Amino acid sequence: MSEHQENSIVHAVEPLTDSFHRLTLHTPLIAAAAKPGQFVMVTCGPSLDPLLRRPFSIHRRIGAEQIQLLFKVVGRGTRLLSELRPGQALSLIGPLGRGFGPVLADSVCFVGGGIGIAPLLFLADRWHRSDQACTILLGSRTGDELTQLASEFEALGCRVETATDDGSLGHHGLVTDLLAPHLAHIRKVYVCGPHAMMATVAELCKTAQVACEASLEAHMACGLGACLGCTIHGADTLYKHVCKHGPVFNAEEVAWKR
Ligand SMILES: Cc1cc2nc3c(=O)[nH]c(=O)nc-3n(C[C@H](O)[C@H](O)[C@H](O)COP(=O)(O)OP(=O)(O)OC[C@H]3O[C@@H](n4cnc5c(N)ncnc54)[C@H](O)[C@@H]3O)c2cc1C
Ligand code: FES
Repeated sequence: MSEHQENSIVHAVEPLTDSFHRLTLHTPLIAAAAKPGQFVMVTCGPSLDPLLRRPFSIHRRIGAEQIQLLFKVVGRGTRLLSELRPGQALSLIGPLGRGFGPVLADSVCFVGGGIGIAPLLFLADRWHRSDQACTILLGSRTGDELTQLASEFEALGCRVETATDDGSLGHHGLVTDLLAPHLAHIRKVYVCGPHAMMATVAELCKTAQVACEASLEAHMACGLGACLGCTIHGADTLYKHVCKHGPVFNAEEVAWKR
């Protein structure tokens, strides 16, 4: 079995911006088994509030024994994570779900929007090890959310293009605007971000006959396939559970417009 329940130890909590934080955890069993696109269920606090674990993508693996999570503070659970201190313990279950498939051995494009950028650094790192070129398109509300992440993708050899809602970095507009010129030259797109953005990317890829994998989000109570709370509609009209069948799907498996 590759899933573990493990008491990790907080190594560092680093604020990247006002709301984005990066948490480094010593968690040898989960780190050893983790693949890009998989996630962990995290007990966010020492008490029963919040009661349920929260899902987070594995942002990066550091060495053999640590993983990082990149998270945005949106509620009580993520607030508690942002207040952790080195040496504290944190219970994790993972790695969970179906991650990204094997990367193709020629040109690909990664597309990340907002906190959806989180799982793409782990994927880009795997890609980097294969010595192939890649492009990453990063979108966010403002440039300050992208600056550090963009430099980390560049350090992995990725060509980075950015788009921001307020025009403070790169293209003033949607990250999906940046994709069209690339579609004639690439074989596959890997995307994670807001649902509407991924639906647009899926549509553009379908029209251009480019393969696309998308990492979806849903409210998750268990992360283990037990509560059936993370249901989405599949293109085949059958229900799919994001925690078990995903979170990464081939874009054509998903009914994007339901
Ligand atoms: C597979 C998966 C991977 C994820 N990876 C990351 C990640 O890498 N970084 C990150 O910051 N977040 C990630 N999320 C979302 C993260 O789980 C939620 O932001 C977190 O659970 C919020 O907990 P909270 O207690 O702070 O907020 P809550 O008080 O529970 O909720 C605050 C607000 O966020 C909304 N919300 C909570 N969970 C979700 C969700 N799953 N989808 C959409 N909206 C939600 C609520 O509706 C509410 O409006 C991921 C979710 C999934 C399903
Ligand atoms: S979160 Fe419980 S079945 Fe998916």
